[in-house]
Amino acid sequence: MSDEHRPVEDWATDYDIFDPDYVKEPGPVWDDLRQRCPIAHTKRWGGSFMATRYEDVQQLVRMTPELSSRSPTIVPPSPELREEMIAEVKAYGSENPPITADPPEHKPYKQLILPFFTPKATDSYRAFTEDLCNTLIDGLVDKGQCDAAAEYAQQIPPRVIARILGIDPARGAEFTEWTQGVLELGQTNPELRTKYRRIIRDFFAELVAHRRENPSDDVVSTLIAAEVEGEALSDHSIIGICNLLLVAGIDTTWSSIGAALWHFAGHPEDRRRMVREPDLFPTAIEELLRFYGPVMMGRRILEPVTIAGTELTPGEKLILNFPAANRDPEVFDRADEVVLDRERNRHVAFGIGIHRCAGSNLARMEMDVALRTWFERIPEFELSDPDAVTWAGGQVRGPRSIPVRY
Ligand code: HEM
Repeated sequence: MSDEHRPVEDWATDYDIFDPDYVKEPGPVWDDLRQRCPIAHTKRWGGSFMATRYEDVQQLVRMTPELSSRSPTIVPPSPELREEMIAEVKAYGSENPPITADPPEHKPYKQLILPFFTPKATDSYRAFTEDLCNTLIDGLVDKGQCDAAAEYAQQIPPRVIARILGIDPARGAEFTEWTQGVLELGQTNPELRTKYRRIIRDFFAELVAHRRENPSDDVVSTLIAAEVEGEALSDHSIIGICNLLLVAGIDTTWSSIGAALWHFAGHPEDRRRMVREPDLFPTAIEELLRFYGPVMMGRRILEPVTIAGTELTPGEKLILNFPAANRDPEVFDRADEVVLDRERNRHVAFGIGIHRCAGSNLARMEMDVALRTWFERIPEFELSDPDAVTWAGGQVRGPRSIPVRY
């Protein structure tokens, strides 16, 4: 067993975000840490601090330039990839802006991408998403059983974002493989991370070259025509933005759709309630995002910062644990329960502050369509083998296999 995988004895001083039991159900660890050690620390996976209280996370996201987004992944890349990335950033600027950019560089990039994801723009992809979900269910409904994560949830976001980026939705399975390679499996496997990062960037490099010759009205062409502070974007920036848009919306959204289906498959009362009261979907989706929030983000500590009595040491990472903040009983009544009609729900599943998720409207639309379509066509379903359910964890947490019968 490698040192990184040894069992955890004290979560306050030696947490492991990849511990299999924690990945399955992290709630008890978060409750313990919030009370006993709200800023925990570990030397594993490159070393990091982790904030689990809502108020602390709120304060920390505002601390720039002390806390930097230049490398928002929690596990640092391999030394070779790190060298490569530093050289690129020196030559061309931020890697995947806006998520890897700090102020003042961040704002113009954020402004550039927000128009792609306004409520109106998002709504224009609803019909495509409905068709996609119905086609997926056509292939599943008569089987009486399926894997709701792999055969349904996982299939939706890569095709929707491909459609938005003007790339072929039929290549959805490839985009999923790339995203898993760079984000999910790549977290603990440096070769995969390097390999898939190259594949994604090469793919977009080719696409950018093609669109320069053959402009259209898609996202890539819009980025080619755009300017930041009076200057056209470099290929490096356009590739970085496209890389971000492809990757950011795939395993995040499929984790949320999957977690919702997993919840309903195992909670028949809640499932029946949604069948009876479909108008509750928007409120229920916010609650499912709160409870099963999939995404934690990293920051690089550049200057000493003291939070909740703990000094964060420069050079290490800080984890903004949005999912743990979402279960903070100081902020949410019955924080450890899914309350489908929760009225006051200021969850932070999409982050907060300047880096708040640019794709939240799209994610909500995809969840709404995916869940409504499933419930309309498969209203009765349950876990067929609860022990066979698997979860992926680390920076993005969600179910990867959910065997259900109906
Ligand atoms: C349920 C699904 C999703 C969740 C939970 C989620 C969560 C998050 C979180 C927590 C952040 C903050 C990052 C930080 O503070 O460093 C973020 C940023 C971002 N997300 Fe999402 N996301 C989801 C879906 C999407 C989708 C569908 C897209 C569309 C492409 C997207 C695009 C982005 C982008 C571009 C950023 C960077 C914004 C910035 O740095 O200013 N996300 N997301």
